[in-house]
Amino acid sequence: MSVRGSNALKLISSSPSETHFFLSTIPRTHKMKLHRLLLINLIYITVILVGVESTQSPPFSCDSSNPSTKSYPFCKTTLPISDRVRDLVSRLTLDEKISQLVNSAPAIPRLGIPAYEWWSEALHGVADAGPGIMFNGTIRSATSFPQVILTAASFDVHLWYRIGRAIGVEARAVYNAGQTKGLTFWAPNINIFRDPRWGRGQETPGEDPLVTGSYAVSYVRGVQGDCLQGLKRCGELQASACCKHFTAYDLDDWKGIDRFKFDARVTMQDLADTYQPPFHRCIEEGRASGIMCAYNRVNGVPSCADFNLLTNTARKRWNFEGYITSDCDAVSIIHDSYGFAKTPEDAVVDVLKAGMDVNCGTYLLNHTKSAVMQKKLPESEIDRALENLFAVRMRLGLFNGNPKGQPYGDIGPNQVCSVEHQTLALDAARDGIVLLKNSQRLLPLPKGKTMSLAVIGPNANSPKTLIGNYAGPPCKFITPLQALQSYVKSTMYHPGCDDVACSSPSIEKAVEIAQKADYVVLVVGLDQTQEREAHDRLDLVLPGKQQKLITSVAKAAKKQVVLVLLSGGPVDISFAKYSNNIGSILWAGYPGGAGGAAIAETIFGDHNPGGRLPVTWYPQDFTKIPMTDMRMRPESNSGYPGRTYRFYTGEKVFEFGYGLSYSTYSYESIPGTRNKLYFNQSSTAHVYEDTDFIRYTSVAQLGKELCDSNNISISIRVRNEGEMAGKHSVLLFVRRLKASAGSPIIKLVAFQSVHLNAGESADVGFLLNPCEHFSGPNKDGLMVIEEGTHFLVVGDQGHPVTVVV
Ligand SMILES: *[C@@H]1O[C@H](CO)[C@@H](O)[C@H](O)[C@H]1NC(C)=O
Ligand SMILES: *[C@@H]1O[C@H](CO)[C@@H](O)[C@H](O)[C@H]1NC(C)=O
Ligand SMILES: *[C@@H]1O[C@H](CO)[C@@H](O)[C@H](O)[C@H]1NC(C)=O
Ligand SMILES: *[C@@H]1O[C@H](CO)[C@@H](O)[C@H](O)[C@H]1NC(C)=O
Repeated sequence: MSVRGSNALKLISSSPSETHFFLSTIPRTHKMKLHRLLLINLIYITVILVGVESTQSPPFSCDSSNPSTKSYPFCKTTLPISDRVRDLVSRLTLDEKISQLVNSAPAIPRLGIPAYEWWSEALHGVADAGPGIMFNGTIRSATSFPQVILTAASFDVHLWYRIGRAIGVEARAVYNAGQTKGLTFWAPNINIFRDPRWGRGQETPGEDPLVTGSYAVSYVRGVQGDCLQGLKRCGELQASACCKHFTAYDLDDWKGIDRFKFDARVTMQDLADTYQPPFHRCIEEGRASGIMCAYNRVNGVPSCADFNLLTNTARKRWNFEGYITSDCDAVSIIHDSYGFAKTPEDAVVDVLKAGMDVNCGTYLLNHTKSAVMQKKLPESEIDRALENLFAVRMRLGLFNGNPKGQPYGDIGPNQVCSVEHQTLALDAARDGIVLLKNSQRLLPLPKGKTMSLAVIGPNANSPKTLIGNYAGPPCKFITPLQALQSYVKSTMYHPGCDDVACSSPSIEKAVEIAQKADYVVLVVGLDQTQEREAHDRLDLVLPGKQQKLITSVAKAAKKQVVLVLLSGGPVDISFAKYSNNIGSILWAGYPGGAGGAAIAETIFGDHNPGGRLPVTWYPQDFTKIPMTDMRMRPESNSGYPGRTYRFYTGEKVFEFGYGLSYSTYSYESIPGTRNKLYFNQSSTAHVYEDTDFIRYTSVAQLGKELCDSNNISISIRVRNEGEMAGKHSVLLFVRRLKASAGSPIIKLVAFQSVHLNAGESADVGFLLNPCEHFSGPNKDGLMVIEEGTHFLVVGDQGHPVTVVV
């Protein structure tokens, strides 16, 4: 592939940007804009914080006003948590123990322990999906960040961290207000977006393992509160995050094959460099306190019953400390659907012995006692699980007495939907939006002039589409139509179709307003009726007659039209890419509560787009590949094209990392980079040679010292050559001159986002560790480094680095 850099970015001349803050700062600008802001606020903002005092208080153990509970060793905060949990578990009867093995854990009143709900959701904002959170008290809503796939498009780890932190703060506020019994959130979803049809691809950071892993680390650290600087153990948790779905889960329901029945056949090589790395980083770098094992089997073994996965890999190799939950009802299917276990009791034994700790569902409640009675399950396995579970509740500070006055205990309802958080949600939507086409510099549209605008399409005025799935009620929302109306007084609107499925479009009515308007903005795409949990797409084209609507309107309009696409997964819009009637295309994911404002700001040049696609956009033709084929690598004999930008050899509509801007950014690399690396000084590493005479050696055998001594730094001077300030992400790839079979065509090894004013430049530095960044797995999944020339690629520039093994 050609990596889009400077020369792919189109220069658009426009007046210098005045950043238009929708929610936070009222900028020092003219009255019209102020008026617009007030208008938006008055009309569209629902006020949520009715009164500040909370009527309910959060549940907690070890109440100091109760002398009997206070004296228990498990309440003594001076003792290590391992001692405290052992003491607690030793006090429980078998029935009490079993009651705690499911997501809705009941209270144990005689020990002063309240009920706990393990299942809460916070994918892109605190959500009311699942039984955890109730938005019926003081807090009625939460900040709605963009759906994750759009947030990923910013390629900005600091933004991701700030979003995670905001979510963690709001989660704690909801707990403190007594509106939930739990602080364990089942996010992030970090499965690789392997197939464009996947209904839940929208929930993920995309198809690249590095981006997905980096997102996981940032989000988890933000939600849980910092435990950085290589601390072996993170202390108190603000809230608990959960890396899901472990592992190789990325098919929901495709042509009757569903996630409950699916057996993902995955090679060791693909596991090593695609499916596992995000989980590895989520656990080891992010120090996540939760993991969810997936519904599907991997090579025949149900994930929740896989000792090798849960215990050997996560706990032993990656030093996981936390709890492992099943996906909901993932335990029952092990016997009931797969027949993997012969009896329900065997299924219970399988999951507990594998290392799972809590069952989302009720299966363990029903069958654990008989497993113990039948002597299939030693009680020590239950104790092991309970110690992990109570340790997390203790790290959340829920066994330290009244949380008031304690870390995180005083986060109040006024921190939910705060101006700061809502500004962040708007920033995230802005930073994610990807400009896919801008012929003849149609965008940004002129503003402040008397002009008329036609807004057309089924997604133009749909609040629900903006929010995506796994969301809570947003503090407020603004649709694209509403935001565009705030820019242009004379705005006409027609949805064009009854709904996104668009089976019977009203083309004539849409054409009629398009003909009258100076400019036309079409807002189309997908929504949850097309792609969602338990529903994968069959096609990659726009649903129903949307394309017909678009082409008819575009043909009738006075000028080229602007096409705005709301979708999680990619859409084959080749017709629009090549149409002369469609001047500009924006992809805006599902942009969250503030999404409409971000779209309008981009269209009118108050924001300079800088997002880049986190997934490959495949043509419709790709759907002839079975979605069930998990192989990442192409296979020439059968014509299998492979998957994602790292391996896929076929045609693309748009490629991974693609995204235009109103500015051009130029790159210049700064000399000083080493271009020869010697790994031939190791006495322990054996050198192998493959059938193509490529010499390679095992990274594990080289040793850390030799790896670190070959660190390589590269610095890129990036200049904003345009006339608008903007954010730009520099993507650094590695490509081999002659790679062994099964190596990626190219792979992302680092990225960094910079904000640059018009004409400004900055140096962006990267430190690479070749053992990590130049290596790849062999067929057995063992990481090796190959001899020969590796190119560091930024934009259209490549820097050779020769490796000697
Ligand atoms: C909120 O809903 C829950 C569950 O339905 C209920 O138990 C609780 O009393 C409600 N709280 C308020 C303040 O209405
Ligand atoms: C557990 O038992 C209850 C009550 O008999 C039943 O409603 C529930 O479906 C059972 N759970 C599972 C997962 O079989
Ligand atoms: C490593 O390879 C370089 C270049 O081929 C050679 O000059 C050097 O002597 C080798 N070092 C060792 C320890 O073999
Ligand atoms: C090499 O890079 C790694 C991170 O990839 C870092 O931990 C290590 O300190 C670096 N070593 C040197 C000598 O720069």
